[in-house]
Amino acid sequence: QKVAVGRAHSKLILIGEHSVVYGQPAIAFPFKQIEVKVTVKNIGGNGIQIESPFYQGSIEQIPEKMEGIGDCIIQTLKVLEKRSSGLHIQIASSIPIGRGLGSSAAIAIALVRGLFSFFNQKLKHSQLMTLVERAEKFAHGTPSGIDMMAASSANPIWFQKQQEVESVKIGAPFHFVVADSGRVGDTYSAVKSIRDKYEMKPEQIEESIILLGKLAQEVRLALAAGNPQQVGDKLNQAHQQLSLLGVSDLGLDGLVEAARTAGALGAKLTGGGRGGCILALVKNEITGKKVADALIQAGAAQTWQYTIAKC
Ligand code: MEV
Repeated sequence: QKVAVGRAHSKLILIGEHSVVYGQPAIAFPFKQIEVKVTVKNIGGNGIQIESPFYQGSIEQIPEKMEGIGDCIIQTLKVLEKRSSGLHIQIASSIPIGRGLGSSAAIAIALVRGLFSFFNQKLKHSQLMTLVERAEKFAHGTPSGIDMMAASSANPIWFQKQQEVESVKIGAPFHFVVADSGRVGDTYSAVKSIRDKYEMKPEQIEESIILLGKLAQEVRLALAAGNPQQVGDKLNQAHQQLSLLGVSDLGLDGLVEAARTAGALGAKLTGGGRGGCILALVKNEITGKKVADALIQAGAAQTWQYTIAKC
């Protein structure tokens, strides 16, 4: 029996979520501790069988909320010029869904990689991005593309819409704690809510968006200089702007506050917001442990320690 595997890791947006949709730059990291694994097997017979935490059954009966995944499989097979029959596709993921950790992009990336590997075809990054972008439109509406870029990159990225992705220099290791609020965020509606506000109060929204872009520039320099104090300070300022944009909530503000009180140098929501995750920059792993404990005390469902290496 032929078996192939496709994998993709999670991503973390350090700074620039939401403003990136309006053309501002953003910085994102690969978050390799959690990932999606797709296993493709031939089982004979007709059709495609899907086995996933959210749905088991034929691709034809796939529920509406998984439409993007079904479409991604069909489109990939079309590109591969393969008949869609006799396949068993298993999706396993340790990335919690809807927490701003790029689970939808990672699932699509792992699916495309798994199918290309199953049919022994070489996959170009641009081909991967075209296929994943389609799936991301089902999940997010108008994605900037940062999630799929970060979830398919081994290194930190500097991302701006319609521009080549650049690398980000990291002057010293930076330690983070990521905390999951345990609540599903809705990136689609968070992005839309800013769009609606933009139509009503363009000046106010534009001010925050421009400031977030400027903060991303400053964070890039502070990362290169290996200056955690400065990065932390900018992350705090970014959280304030995201709050003004209306994508934080009491729960996320509480976690951000708990991280700062426990000694974090800075903390902010990460991803779409309104649920999902926060990240906190800490001096070292020892402070990280303290901050992680405080976050659990404050109600976080789970935490991860994460270090971005010098590069
Ligand atoms: C979601 O991870 C990031 C957002 O900026 C949306 C996007 O860029 O597509 C909120």
